[in-house]
Amino acid sequence: GKVAVLMGGWSAERAVSLRSGQAVLDALLRRGVDAHGIDVNKETVLQVLEKGTYDRAFIVLHGPGGEDGRIQAVLEVMGIPYTGSDVLSSALAMDKLRSKMILEAAGLPTPDYMVLDDETDPEYVVASLGLPLMVKPALEGSSIGMSRVNEPQQMRDAYKTAAQFPGAVIAERWIEGGEYTVTILGEQTLPVIKLETPNEFYDYEAKYQSNQTRYLCPSGLEPEQEGQMQRLALAAFKAVGASGWGRVDILCSADGKPWVIELNTVPGMTDHSLVPMAAKAIGMDFDQLVYAILAQTLD
Ligand code: DAL
Ligand code: MG
Repeated sequence: GKVAVLMGGWSAERAVSLRSGQAVLDALLRRGVDAHGIDVNKETVLQVLEKGTYDRAFIVLHGPGGEDGRIQAVLEVMGIPYTGSDVLSSALAMDKLRSKMILEAAGLPTPDYMVLDDETDPEYVVASLGLPLMVKPALEGSSIGMSRVNEPQQMRDAYKTAAQFPGAVIAERWIEGGEYTVTILGEQTLPVIKLETPNEFYDYEAKYQSNQTRYLCPSGLEPEQEGQMQRLALAAFKAVGASGWGRVDILCSADGKPWVIELNTVPGMTDHSLVPMAAKAIGMDFDQLVYAILAQTLD
């Protein structure tokens, strides 16, 4: 049948989604799938899906609108099967504050945090979480709106930057150590990737523009620690009810303890992206990966 590849959208990650979406579309076309790219726009998406009589949808939308349960709800109502997580789990995973609450309730480690508003005393935040710390908008991806705060005087600007985006602003304790990511495909976890950047943190530039970012796969972790990280990632994914495919980002402190920082239910699929890299590590090329995700909608 006809497959709609949904990309673009109206979030701050639109540009990333267009790159991910084109790559997915090309892969499906190479596999002979009757796939059609749709640049999703808030005003027209309902008509396009209705008129197109699509049999399935491959969601490659990142951020609010497309990764947060809204498009998933539209597709549910229209009776069109779609890739990835359902409405509730998409909404929970997109929201860093709610996902952290669920992780805590499930007994899974996530760095300490506070919700900020424009009256929060920076000194109080710094006294509670220490320095450096991260300030983030709860609902964005790709590190958009995030700042690392090294001195109390930087709190105000960091808050203002994050508050430009919808949803809550959170401050999160800095975990000094390494950054890792775990891909989930079906019930499986793929090899862990370690990220190394000369930047202050793994920010938008390090993710999509820099050629100084290093991706280590194998991760260099001891097999036991790698296994522990994979189990934690899967447990976190399941705690919010996510399914199909995704990526869980984890920091590892110097003492070897892993901390979940966030869940991605529609992770990037660009040529710089991590999920395709992890798939390659088990001998699965990009086209096979994309087809395997689409095939989940047939289950
Ligand atoms: N939010 C971006 C697309 C990612 O997690 O890969
Ligand atoms: Mg994310």
